[in-house]
Amino acid sequence: MTSRAARADELRAQIEEANYRYYALDDPQITDAEFDALLRELVELERKHSELQTPDSPTQRVGAVASQRFAPYEHARPMLSLANAVSVDELRAFDERARKLAGTEIEYVCELKIDGLAIALDYRDGSLTRGGTRGDGRVGEDVTASLRTIKTIPLRLRSTSFDKLRMTGSTPKFLEVRGEVYLRKSDFERLNAEREREGLPAFANPRNAASGGVRQLDPALTAKRRLSFFAYQLAVDEGDRSAPKTQWDALARLRTLGLPVNPHVHRAATLDEVIEYCTSSERKRDSFDYEIDGVVVKVNDFAQQERLGVVARDPRWAIAFKFKPREARTKLVDIAITVGRTGTLNPSAVLTPVQIGGVTVKSATLHNVDYIKNNDIRIGDTVLVTRAGDVIPRVVGPVLSERTGRERKFKMPQRCPVCGSDVDHPPDEAMSRCTNAACPAQAYERLRHFASRGAMDIEGIGDVMAQQLTELNLVRDIADTYKLNESALADVPRMGKKSSENLLRNIEASKQRGPARLLYGLGIRFVGTQTAQILVDDFGTIDAIADADDQTLQRSEGIGPEVARSVALFFKQQPNREMIERLRETGVVMSAPKRLRIGGALSGKNFVLTGTLPNLTREAAAELIVAAGGKVTGSVSKKTDYVVAGSEAGSKLTKAEQLGINILDESGLQALLE
Ligand code: IVH
Repeated sequence: MTSRAARADELRAQIEEANYRYYALDDPQITDAEFDALLRELVELERKHSELQTPDSPTQRVGAVASQRFAPYEHARPMLSLANAVSVDELRAFDERARKLAGTEIEYVCELKIDGLAIALDYRDGSLTRGGTRGDGRVGEDVTASLRTIKTIPLRLRSTSFDKLRMTGSTPKFLEVRGEVYLRKSDFERLNAEREREGLPAFANPRNAASGGVRQLDPALTAKRRLSFFAYQLAVDEGDRSAPKTQWDALARLRTLGLPVNPHVHRAATLDEVIEYCTSSERKRDSFDYEIDGVVVKVNDFAQQERLGVVARDPRWAIAFKFKPREARTKLVDIAITVGRTGTLNPSAVLTPVQIGGVTVKSATLHNVDYIKNNDIRIGDTVLVTRAGDVIPRVVGPVLSERTGRERKFKMPQRCPVCGSDVDHPPDEAMSRCTNAACPAQAYERLRHFASRGAMDIEGIGDVMAQQLTELNLVRDIADTYKLNESALADVPRMGKKSSENLLRNIEASKQRGPARLLYGLGIRFVGTQTAQILVDDFGTIDAIADADDQTLQRSEGIGPEVARSVALFFKQQPNREMIERLRETGVVMSAPKRLRIGGALSGKNFVLTGTLPNLTREAAAELIVAAGGKVTGSVSKKTDYVVAGSEAGSKLTKAEQLGINILDESGLQALLE
């Protein structure tokens, strides 16, 4: 065997494998660009050396094998694929050849190339009867049931336009629509977030999710993915006199029939206009809520299309201008941890630098430990990296075929890489967190929370001020708030004497808010206003809470193991203890008279708040109820004693009525409290 023949064999094997992974397994391990490169090389090789061509070469068919899970869907006309142009020069060559063959100037229609899954839809007498995937172009999979769940695919064509068509005397008894099923980026993010919560591996990209979604045997699963559809091709009965004669008119007709057509289409009189449209679309690529990977350039006039014909697998009347690929393979050298502003430990990939879509990428997000585990990503792996939209690049997953066995599994550190404190990873959560309230990485968020209305309520410390105070290092942790003075505040830009005085007065006043507000203000995971109030009611002082162990804490009503663990872990951290000491030294009130909750007017009663009350905010109402020994919960159940309803109360009120629960307005609540 010559080395050329060996190379052709190798290419065929690689392409078959890639096709199989892409279409049958939905788990591609090479990028589109890499696939295209392989195919191009093979096409080229077979063109130059025709003796190398085999009847079963992947160059001889349009797409790939249909999986056996579905009934076959035979296409009346083959579903063609498109040749690619990866440069402006290749677009020019396409245009030159087309003009030469047509013998005239050519008008083009440019459409965005939606990155999804091509499908065909059969409409008979205006009703959707069948739908299928492209498959190998001749036979695809019958996925009618899945396609029916896609809301943007009309089950009936719009009858008005349909009847108009009838009036022309040529009833389109049969009509075929082709187009792209895709997933919006926003729906893709939501879907992946859901899958992450369920412990399922995330989808690499919207196209894979769309393709897998259509090819679900259970249509209910398809429906869950919220797929969308754009139509771009129309075929009507032969001999239909009203049939559109150009692509431009076909798109218009699709629209009147009620099919969704992408609005970004452009009719171009010259190739320069085509090029301009292609380059400007590539620039705007991120502004669309769906992935596009190029622009499809089509000869507008159908008669001209006919004349140009089809060669091998590709029509000569259309070409796909492909954007720069935004996926690449590279080496995952290490996994680094950064600490976010809320204390989350965020793993990020340290990559061997690689070009993706014209940008050098050397790091990428890995989201969280579960993501790394679910996708079996290991240090040392060759990984697939995408850079979609303007978001940070993301590691999609390992290329398993490149595994050498020397890869290492990743373990989340037990200590915060910024401050060395314990890391907490609640069993039901995706993120690990640093438990140190004084961790420098968290200063801003902590201060914002500490000063917020439900906590120490320091007017004057909002988003901007909190940012300035932390960036200028005037406040490293919340205790520093009480060390601020006029000379320190003089460093804050645009801070006048008057506002400085006001701020200091508000800070001083906040010392008296009491231990419950303070406890809430510390920003301990799972400790909201109500939990803070319960703990303070039961223990009386911050110190007593800090000294209580897990078990003791759980004796308080409504304090479950999760909350108790989190509270105990917080106070176990030395820096947190020291911070409490510094708060005490500045005179922040840390204890309240221990109150016997049993005696409260609302003792043992469960409340649900809903709607807007005329005077009290919901937080204020909750505080009053809790102070009187009552409990506030989020949802109405048989255990609920009272529902306090304001204006625009919704389903909670309805449910309360159904269950026959006492319903109060604000004055009713006030009466109870007295
Ligand atoms: S026209 C012969 N128009 O790109 C014409 N295709 O290889 C065939 N695609 O399989 C397709 N957007 O899945 C056309 N506006 C568009 C398209 C589009 C996306 C996909 C389609 C096709 C592939 C081309």
